[in-house]
Amino acid sequence: GVSSLVRVTPSMLKFMNGRKDKETGKVKDAWSAYQGKVYNISPYLPYHPGGEGELRRAAGKDGTKLFMEVHPWVNWENMLGECMVGILVSEEQAPA
Ligand code: HEM
Repeated sequence: GVSSLVRVTPSMLKFMNGRKDKETGKVKDAWSAYQGKVYNISPYLPYHPGGEGELRRAAGKDGTKLFMEVHPWVNWENMLGECMVGILVSEEQAPA
């Protein structure tokens, strides 16, 4: 339910992007926001038909505009349901 969702500010979104695992040194997370919802897009990166690089252009930020420019017909809500981590809130709204 909504209560289990994290409230994510734009700066948190940026911070969560490209963090490296201390042990392996591999990049762990890529988070993006689409129309107010925040997703960990990492698991989807290798499967994106437009390529990992294109999807990464939206990493750490709100990708709605880029997304809508390229493929407004794609139903990302169905595709990324499992990857949703939270909701985007303004910088002033303290995280829950
Ligand atoms: C293609 C999903 C984000 C760039 C596609 C396609 C899907 C998809 C399903 C195939 C569409 C079709 O053939 O009709 C997604 C999802 C996204 C996402 C779920 C968000 C999580 C983005 C972003 C960009 C982008 C942010 C650009 C910065 C592209 C491009 C193609 C494509 C250029 C066309 C590839 C081609 O036809 O050669 N994407 N996409 N996508 N996507 Fe995305």
